[in-house]
Amino acid sequence: MDDDILRLLEERLGAVHARQRLGIESEHDPQVFGQGLNFFHPENWYSAHAFIAYALKLSGLYWRGRRNTLDIRVRHNEVAIECLPKAFDGFRLLHLSDLHSDLNPPAMRAVAEAIDDVSADICVMTGDYRGQTFGPFEPALAHLAPLQAALAGLPVYAVFGNHDSVRMLPGMEAMGFNMLLNESVTLSRGDAHIALVGLDDAHYYRVDNLAAAAAGVPPDRVSILLSHTPEIYRQVAHAGFDLMLCGHTHGGQICLPGGIPLTLDSRCPRWMGRGSWRYRSMQGYTSAGAGTSIVPVRLNCPPEMTVHTLRSARLNTDDDVAPKNKKSARSTDWRS
Ligand SMILES: [Fe+2]
Repeated sequence: MDDDILRLLEERLGAVHARQRLGIESEHDPQVFGQGLNFFHPENWYSAHAFIAYALKLSGLYWRGRRNTLDIRVRHNEVAIECLPKAFDGFRLLHLSDLHSDLNPPAMRAVAEAIDDVSADICVMTGDYRGQTFGPFEPALAHLAPLQAALAGLPVYAVFGNHDSVRMLPGMEAMGFNMLLNESVTLSRGDAHIALVGLDDAHYYRVDNLAAAAAGVPPDRVSILLSHTPEIYRQVAHAGFDLMLCGHTHGGQICLPGGIPLTLDSRCPRWMGRGSWRYRSMQGYTSAGAGTSIVPVRLNCPPEMTVHTLRSARLNTDDDVAPKNKKSARSTDWRS
């Protein structure tokens, strides 16, 4: 293991997190079966990827599916939260997920163009920036550049997915992305605050640490959780989060007519595979993703970016007074 990156990551993430993540990555021969939360990992079955592309070409669907990857849809999702401070009514989060930027650079340019037409207060990214689950990550960072330019001026908060190496952390932060790896940040508007919490990958690496991530968040503060995968929805809901934003499933990516996924590569209910959902008192949203994995093809499942608009469900009450502040990891002021 490279001592320099280990030391750097130990300082940034703590020794246990850095060693777990780097250690599992170093074992990599990616595992097709076992490891992770689910048993079968098609994203790691590289010998099958060329066969899938070949079969799609034979069926005549490949080139249509490839064009579909450029048809980025902007979806809008209103989230009413009962105790949301009034100052955050109308707060907008642009949600990008599963870019896999080096697998389909033209799609990244399409995403960047679509971003130009979107208004938001912050951007959140829920992981999977690299095409493959191993190997060089520099091309993925390079192909994020058009997005970085399009997002200029917009604060960006991001987590890693199962395709990402933790070695990408310095590069992502150098690009101005605020990585939340089992960490939180406080978003403030005047005297009102909400919490944004991010987890490292729970799907394959299983290095998510919800207790550490939420340690600085007062229990009565409205809180939003960023996770690559929805699979940990139970833990997140019972921890008291108001909203969970995630991706990973790609909505199926290659679906039957009607958007019926063949696989979600996830251990979660199928109704959680794409779009908005609710589990107990927590609301959630699973992005179908803006990019593609395995093959640069989408069928019956368009790529998306999502604008989530927060709404206060109690606008007429005096609920915008922030609870007594406890220590939080970082603080950012969003006065507008
Ligand atoms: Fe993905």
